[in-house]
Amino acid sequence: MLSKSLLAIALLAVALPVAAQAPGPIEQRKAMMKQNGKDAKAGGDMAKGAVPFDAGKAKMVFSGMHDVAMKYGTLFPANSKTGGETEAAPAIWTKPAEFQAAVSKFQKDTMAALAANPQTLEAFRVQFGAVTANCKSCHEAFRIKKD
Ligand code: HEC
Repeated sequence: MLSKSLLAIALLAVALPVAAQAPGPIEQRKAMMKQNGKDAKAGGDMAKGAVPFDAGKAKMVFSGMHDVAMKYGTLFPANSKTGGETEAAPAIWTKPAEFQAAVSKFQKDTMAALAANPQTLEAFRVQFGAVTANCKSCHEAFRIKKD
C-alpha cells in the first residue's frame, strides 16, 4: 500500500514539470513547418523523377500540407513575436489581414490539390507547383531566414 502511494507521488512529481513544458506556439509552428519541409521533399523527389510517381504518396503530401494549413494561422499570439529562435517576421503582426490571407490561400490550394487527386506525374506536377508557390510567397513576406 505504502509503496503504491509513494509511486503515485513520484509519478505526479514527474508529470508536473512535463505539463509545464508543453510545446508553446513557436515550437508548434516550427514543428508544423518541418513537416511541410518533409512533405515538400517527398513531393519534390517525385516531381523531378528521383523517385517513381505514386498517387497514394501524392495524396499524403497534400493532406500533410493541408493539415498544417488548417492549424497554422492560430499559432501567432502577440506574446510569440520573439524567442525560441523564431523566424517569424514582424509583418505577421503588423499586417495580420495579409498574413491570414496567405494562410487561407495555402488552405485553398492544398484543398484543391487533394480534390484533384492527381493520378499521373504530369497532373501531380501541376498541383504540386501550385501548392509550393505558397511556400515561397509566404516566406518572402512573413519569414526572416536566420541561416
Ligand atoms: C502562410 C505562410 C506560410 C506558408 C504558406 C508556408 N510557410 Fe514555411 N514558414 C512560415 C513562417 C512564418 C515560418 C517561420 C516560423 C517561426 O520560426 O516561428 C516558416 C518556417 C518554415 C521552415 C523552417 C522551420 C524550422 O525549422 O524552424 C520550413 C522548413 C518551412 N517553413 C517550409 C515550408 C514549406 C515547404 C512550405 C510549403 C509547402 C511552407 N513552409 C509554407 C510561413 C509559411
